[in-house]
Amino acid sequence: MKSICLSVLCGISLFLSGCANHAADEEEVKELEACKQMVEDGLLKIPEMRDMRFLGKVATATAMCRGGQQAVQFAKTPWVDWSQYWGTGDMASLPKNIVPKGPMFRGVSGALLDLEYQRVELIKFNLFDNNGTYKTYVAGNNGIDGRAVKVWPEMRLPKTNPNYQAVGGDQAQVCKGELIRGRTTTGICNDILNPLMGSQGTPFARNVEFDTSFPDQGLNELTKNRHGNRLGLLTPDPQVISRTLLTRIQSPAAKNCNSGFGSPDNSADANCDYQKAPFFNVLAAYWIQFMTHDWFSHLDEGHNATVYIDTGCKTKLVNGVPTPLTPDDIQKLGCRPGDRIDRTLVASESTPESFTVNGKKYLARAPKTFANNNTAWWDASQLYGYDENSKKRVKRDTNDPAMLLLQPVRGAPGAYLPVFQAGDPIQPQWSGQEASGFPDNWTIGMSFYHNLFAREHNAFVAEFRKEAAANPNGDSGLRNPENPGKVIANKDVTPEELFTAARLVVSAMIAKIHTIEWTPQLLYDEPLYKGMNANWNGLLGAGQPEVSAALSNIVAHDFGESKNGTKATQWYSIFASGPGIFGIGSQAPGYDMSKPQFTNGGVNHFGSPFNFPEEFVTVYRLHSLIPDLIEYRDVTKDPNQIAQKVAVISTFESKATDAMRSRGLANWALSMGRQRLGLLTLHNIPQFMQNITLPRLDTPGKQIDLAALDLIRDREHGVPRFNEFRRQYGLRQLTSFDDFFPKPLSGQYIQWAQQLRDVYGTHICDASKVITDAQLDDNNKPINDCLGHPNGSVVDNVEDVDTVVGWLSESTRPHGFAISETQFVVFILNASRRLYSDRFFTSSFRPEFYTKLGVDWVNHNGPGPERIEQGMPNGHKQPVSPLKRVLLRNTPELTDELKYVVNVFDPWARARGEYYTLDWKPRPGAESDPAFK
Ligand code: HEM
Repeated sequence: MKSICLSVLCGISLFLSGCANHAADEEEVKELEACKQMVEDGLLKIPEMRDMRFLGKVATATAMCRGGQQAVQFAKTPWVDWSQYWGTGDMASLPKNIVPKGPMFRGVSGALLDLEYQRVELIKFNLFDNNGTYKTYVAGNNGIDGRAVKVWPEMRLPKTNPNYQAVGGDQAQVCKGELIRGRTTTGICNDILNPLMGSQGTPFARNVEFDTSFPDQGLNELTKNRHGNRLGLLTPDPQVISRTLLTRIQSPAAKNCNSGFGSPDNSADANCDYQKAPFFNVLAAYWIQFMTHDWFSHLDEGHNATVYIDTGCKTKLVNGVPTPLTPDDIQKLGCRPGDRIDRTLVASESTPESFTVNGKKYLARAPKTFANNNTAWWDASQLYGYDENSKKRVKRDTNDPAMLLLQPVRGAPGAYLPVFQAGDPIQPQWSGQEASGFPDNWTIGMSFYHNLFAREHNAFVAEFRKEAAANPNGDSGLRNPENPGKVIANKDVTPEELFTAARLVVSAMIAKIHTIEWTPQLLYDEPLYKGMNANWNGLLGAGQPEVSAALSNIVAHDFGESKNGTKATQWYSIFASGPGIFGIGSQAPGYDMSKPQFTNGGVNHFGSPFNFPEEFVTVYRLHSLIPDLIEYRDVTKDPNQIAQKVAVISTFESKATDAMRSRGLANWALSMGRQRLGLLTLHNIPQFMQNITLPRLDTPGKQIDLAALDLIRDREHGVPRFNEFRRQYGLRQLTSFDDFFPKPLSGQYIQWAQQLRDVYGTHICDASKVITDAQLDDNNKPINDCLGHPNGSVVDNVEDVDTVVGWLSESTRPHGFAISETQFVVFILNASRRLYSDRFFTSSFRPEFYTKLGVDWVNHNGPGPERIEQGMPNGHKQPVSPLKRVLLRNTPELTDELKYVVNVFDPWARARGEYYTLDWKPRPGAESDPAFK
């Protein structure tokens, strides 16, 4: 089997033979016996049916071997087991008194193995395309297993597309020529044989069975039984949920918080309380908003549909019955019954067709679909645009059209994006903002990243120009697919070609930062460090290029081209961990950029065209990450001093321009780099977001509660509620509100469980009602309305909990996880698909597209050779991180401050300690920083 399985097994047997020489205590002997048992039991089988998934839970012997007694105890909880294995936490998770390497090795390897099983199962059971290809996925096509199908008629460009003829019109459609040289504006032709895939305006996919979506519609008997007619768009009431469960509570010490609007003079004395994550900073919060603006949008040019709907603040549950709120209730809650919002945009709501395969009936798509108005690719479309209109918002430098336009600003070092001008295709609310492809929901954080990566784009162009001037006849690496044999010399690269290459480089740098810098800090432990680096560089690491290249070819061609569904998906995914996903198929012998079998040869969609699922958007509703006030610091003075507190809302839309220009990119980097972001937990939504004014709204108050809106949008999009959501993803269900919290319940958790009960209610259960077919109970029996409680007893309406509220309530998480395990499992699937499906991250990661400089830039995090970080952070020798290199290049004022930074998303002045510590202590030199008081 795959490399990690083999290494785990070999490692265990080596370990078993080696340990006879060591004195073993009783506990250790038990663990070793368990290891022997685990090896004898063999590897887990990938199940044939979705209700046989392993749910992240392993056999007792396996848990004992990998994590000792603690892991065995944990098996009784609903949460995944791997987080309890040896070495998966901080120093306390490292074994004491026993052979130092063995247990940690089997713990971390065991965790990686569990995660790989999860990914394989997710690929097998959670792909549901909404474009019309689902029937082929289930039934197959001309003897090819559905999961091995690679080309779909539904992914052809329609006649209305301006490139219809260019890709072959009504003949076989194959992208060629200029359409394949780089990332196209609308995202067509990323997959050369499926031109439409991932392009702007195509429908969001799903990760859950279609008839499980839209739970309020009760599409089948199971869903009706699950929710017993209790759900509606505004029931339970979203504003009541927001105010009862999500509001950030302010202590008496929170001076001048002013509902998150802070003090008008930005006084450093102002304070808004928020629950903080010690190991993740505000730059990380804005990073992920910056990413979502690249990946998806339900809105069209900042707008939804023209029809307006109520947003709640109308009812509360009294004995399970929605009952009108009294004026007194409204005042106490602080909600607004008059708020209204524009209804979500729907792409299709006609009744979906159904089909039958092997006696089972399936829906061909979800009952409603919604367009992703962004390109789904990781193509930096937030910077460069995603359609003709948004592209016009992006300003090029007329002196060198390969560059983006950046202008000097008085008083601040470096250059900045220009401001929108009259005639630019923008919405009124964006007027006065800095020019960008995706200008919506703009604050200082978006201004920061857009300026930074515009500088990075220009830094690449400038370096290319410098090298070209030194060596004008040198081979740029670039080729034209019309004439692939002809070398394009450095001096002959046109500005347009260079701009296209720079966009590829910037997109790949962003993808790399996200994969090996942001994510390992979001999920701050050893298995995830290894796992994420494996996605990018492979488990073999960058040190063995020949072995990686050979493995990569086997994966792309032997497995990728198989007609057998299991080989084309399961084995492909498993073996891809060896060489890494990034660059798969790019080393094929005889590579010819004019032939799709090379350029497209490394992609794998696992039988389902790529787009994000609605469920992915749900787990990115991360508004709690944002603090109300930014602790502003000045790099030219004392970085340890908080000079001011600037309200985030005072930088909303056009107000970000002055905030950026008057204070400068480097100072904002320092300020957001040092400050901790908000924890994803109950009671941590910034109050300014609950009271935000959106000028675009055609309502008298123009105000909206963004936390309530998050719930409404998920309900409009038909996202299953939390418990079924978990079952669909192969995670264990909860059986009561208490299950969200550590047992026995104490302190605030008693209160939170009661608040969940207040807003979602309880009911008398009926054991004759089966509520799901995604899983079976512990006795392999259907799961019923009583969730294991006695028939006729009062049970919590845990089935009704909105998914966002559910994952915010999850209080048991793997070590260092800033997100919950439910969110994480959605990422395991979709984050790797975002790489697997993209030709420019796999088989087209080549100098013919990126230039030679571009390939090196992405591999080495900038020009010249790779630089190595000092010391051994968490025991690893590693390159200087990609975002640190971007900052060093583009904001050199930060050089001193960055000396101490290993991961740009870890609060900059925190002492990182020895092994994945979450302690909040200052590094040497930062003792006077008041953030550590
Ligand atoms: C100050 C910062 C932010 C502001 C002002 C803001 C504002 C908004 C608004 C007004 C919407 C509602 C659009 C609608 O459905 O009508 C929205 C949606 C959303 N926001 Fe934020 N947001 C902020 C930060 C963030 C952050 C840090 C994240 C983290 C990923 C995030 C993720 C999302 C997502 C996923 C949606 C749904 C988008 C969609 O449906 O396609 N936002 N935001």
